[in-house]
Amino acid sequence: MRIVITGALGQLGTAMQAALAGADLILIDVPDWDITDPRQVSRMADLKPEVVIHCAAMTDVDGCARNPDLAYRINTFGTQNVALACQRAGAAMVHISTNEVFDGTATEPYREFDSRRAINPYGASKLAAERVATRLLTKLYVVRISWLFARGRPNFVSKMVDLADKHGQLRVVTDEVANPTYAPDLAAAVARLIQTEHYGVYHLVNEGYCSRYEFAVEIMKQSGREHVPVLPITSDQLQRPSTPPPFAPLRNTFGAALGITLRPWQEALADYFSE
Ligand SMILES: NC(=O)c1ccc[n+]([C@@H]2O[C@H](COP(=O)([O-])OP(=O)(O)OC[C@H]3O[C@@H](n4cnc5c(N)ncnc54)[C@H](OP(=O)(O)O)[C@@H]3O)[C@@H](O)[C@H]2O)c1
Repeated sequence: MRIVITGALGQLGTAMQAALAGADLILIDVPDWDITDPRQVSRMADLKPEVVIHCAAMTDVDGCARNPDLAYRINTFGTQNVALACQRAGAAMVHISTNEVFDGTATEPYREFDSRRAINPYGASKLAAERVATRLLTKLYVVRISWLFARGRPNFVSKMVDLADKHGQLRVVTDEVANPTYAPDLAAAVARLIQTEHYGVYHLVNEGYCSRYEFAVEIMKQSGREHVPVLPITSDQLQRPSTPPPFAPLRNTFGAALGITLRPWQEALADYFSE
């Protein structure tokens, strides 16, 4: 199968390359391929992919809050360009989206068809991207994920470890809740999903959810830093440009119906540290 991966050098893109080893892969990333340039992206159709896994995005949520125009340019217009190339090639598209399309006022994890309402520019640009891709394509998988971590690029796990070693203690918020998701587990799930041709919306996250604080405590425990104090704080004690949805874990019901589930996040974290 000929598969294009956009954002191929990012956390998920790198994991997708490993999960799809053996497939005919075409890797796309800046600077050679900029998804905000319609002419560059339309060349993708000439490569005649059967599937495009669209991982490229502006993922710095605070950067998106500081520069919403750039967030929409990369996350929404870029996705529109990729979707148009898929349309021209007749390719299926996997659009990687986020739990931040939800407002976080729920009391139970969000299901695939719960109402979306983004509360920050990153989430809004990704929600607009879901809408534009859905309008343009029928062969579309929208895969929502949250709190991605993997070896290789800075992520919440590596940042907690670095901050613990630098400061000897951590202050972490208790009022942001979601699902830690290990990129290699997600990539394996996406590799299975694209075989099904069951186009639709999916929540592919590791099982279970926690607050950032609980995640940090588990990171300290599993990395042999139990002695590092982790102090619980609330987000009003933090100055940051973006406002994350407070309670936005995702519930995987449609993937599970196809037999595609991910293991508990604590087990995945153990693999991260044993790598
Ligand atoms: N990370 C998370 O916790 C998280 C949570 C929910 C959803 N997601 C979604 O999951 C997907 C993958 O995330 P990730 O963590 O793997 O992201 P990542 O590590 O930041 O990788 C994104 C890749 O896209 C590239 N890129 C940025 N702008 C581009 C452009 N204009 N044209 C082409 N490529 C461009 C980036 O290059 P540079 O590094 O040079 O910018 C990077 O290689 C994204 O759609 C993201 O919105 C991520």
